[in-house]
Amino acid sequence: MSEQTLFIVKPDGVKRKLVGEIISRFEKKGFTILKLKMFTFTKELATEFYSVHKDKPFFGELLEYITSGPVVVTVVEGNNAVATTRQMVGATKSFEAEPGSIRGDFGLGFTENIIHASDSTESFDKEVNVVFK
Ligand code: PPS
Repeated sequence: MSEQTLFIVKPDGVKRKLVGEIISRFEKKGFTILKLKMFTFTKELATEFYSVHKDKPFFGELLEYITSGPVVVTVVEGNNAVATTRQMVGATKSFEAEPGSIRGDFGLGFTENIIHASDSTESFDKEVNVVFK
C-alpha cells in the first residue's frame, strides 16, 4: 500500500552533519523522495506544527529546541511509509531506541533526538501543510 509521510532532521541532526546519512537510509530502503527543504522553524510555525502537544509540560522546551537552528524536512513515498518510517526512526528516547534505528545508532538524547516522523497519515496531512504552505 503506497503511502506518503514526512520526516524532519532536527537541529541537532543538522548540526551533527547527519542529513546525508539519514536521507541515504530512506533512499536505500526504497522510498521515493517527493519533497525536500531546509528551513528554520519560527516560534509561530513550531507552535502550529506541534499544536497537539501544546498542553504538555515539555512544550516550552520542545519549542526552544526545534527553533534553535535549521532543519531539513523530506516527504517520502513508499509501501507502508508511516509505520516503516517510524520503525526506522526508533523510540522517542534515543537511549532506549533499538540499534539499527536512526536514534538507536546516532543518539543518546531525549529532547535532542535527531529526527521527527509523522505518526499517522492524519498527522502527515496536517504536518505537510504546515511545513510546505
Ligand atoms: S506524548 O506525550 O507521548 O504524546 O509525547 P511523545 O510522543 O513522547 O513526544 C512528542 C514529541 O515531544 C518531544 N518530547 C520532548 N521534547 C522536549 N522535552 C521533553 N521532555 C520531551 N518529551 C517529549 C518528543 O521528542 C516528540 O517529538 P517528535 O518531534 O514528535 O518526535
